[in-house]
Amino acid sequence: MSKTHAKTPTTFMSDSDVVDRVLGHIAAGTTDRGTDVWREPVDHYRSEDRLAAELALFKSVPTAFCPSIALAKPGEYIARTAAGTPLIVVRGHDHKVRAFKNACRHRGAELAAGTGCAGAFVCPYHGWSYGLDGALLGIPHQDGFPDIDRLEKGLVEVFATETKGLIFVCQDDPASDAGDAHDLLSGVPDVLASDQMIFAENEGVGEANWKLHLESFLEGYHIKATHKETFYPFGYDNLNVIEVCGAHARVTFPFQRITQLAEVAPEARDVSDKLTYLNHLFPNVILAELSHHRTLGILEPLGVSRTRITTYHMTKSSAETDKDALLKTAARDLEFVNGTGQVEDIAMVEGIQRGLKSGANEALTFGHFEPAIVHFHQQMAARLGSM
Ligand code: FES
Ligand SMILES: [Fe+2]
Repeated sequence: MSKTHAKTPTTFMSDSDVVDRVLGHIAAGTTDRGTDVWREPVDHYRSEDRLAAELALFKSVPTAFCPSIALAKPGEYIARTAAGTPLIVVRGHDHKVRAFKNACRHRGAELAAGTGCAGAFVCPYHGWSYGLDGALLGIPHQDGFPDIDRLEKGLVEVFATETKGLIFVCQDDPASDAGDAHDLLSGVPDVLASDQMIFAENEGVGEANWKLHLESFLEGYHIKATHKETFYPFGYDNLNVIEVCGAHARVTFPFQRITQLAEVAPEARDVSDKLTYLNHLFPNVILAELSHHRTLGILEPLGVSRTRITTYHMTKSSAETDKDALLKTAARDLEFVNGTGQVEDIAMVEGIQRGLKSGANEALTFGHFEPAIVHFHQQMAARLGSM
């Protein structure tokens, strides 16, 4: 496994620079282009061995698990799998977020399911109880376990950390791959603020490989063909700014009304309803900055051709706006995106997955208009080789 990663920028451009670049493309009829063409073997979307290697990679790097505000108060928890491992992520009485394997230390029962708020985790099978810090607190009829060392039977903890409004977990010791873990965390864009509100959460399953779902977010070359009556009437076909930041990437999708900013001084430009930023947080998470809301989407592979998609929809920062208005515009925004374009993307990638069986293609080809996807596959290849 190679640990050498090509040097890439460590931040994204300013809003105003993005606007200038978009306006230049509009005037010239151009778009950002990559330099490489990439051919990704179809086998990588169908192979159990490849998926196992990808899940091992997920465990070895910090992956975003949820927004910090999803666990705002002590005791709030989320129990969900990450890279196939059942985890409980919980905020402790000391306000620190911790992640534990969701398995009782007696005979392995699951301690929690879904989301909730608890003072302790009590095993539903025989009643062993654990503190929010994972410590084993109580064993009913303890004389049945004369040799047990309670200190050794706390919940099994995995690394969790909070940065830039997100909670990350890293199931393998991050110190063992510290350079990569640090680089991935430091490159995360600063999008979320502590006063945002989660106004909707969803969980769905797509019948396609997780990489196909991811790829559908990372280029604008499909806007006219796939979203002819949904996104295209408000946006542009194949007109994007595409940046990379370490292993991460950002794709800008401008709305036609961005031309209003041509006359606005750079420092006064507000891009909020003039473009959409789609951030890819390597490897399996997207963070979209939409006109009136933010969406965090986590792609969890359930099999080679099944993906659970967990989404958190958040208002923008409420600093200067009244909360009801913020929630109303955010909900309208979400309806536009989810009710229309998202459905079209999912149908497209599920069709690709079915078509992979045909044998028509040995590889999928990504050209000069899909450089964020090329970058993603290059990052995967650097860590996994060509297996
Ligand atoms: S399995 Fe949890 S108390 Fe027995
Ligand atoms: Fe799309």
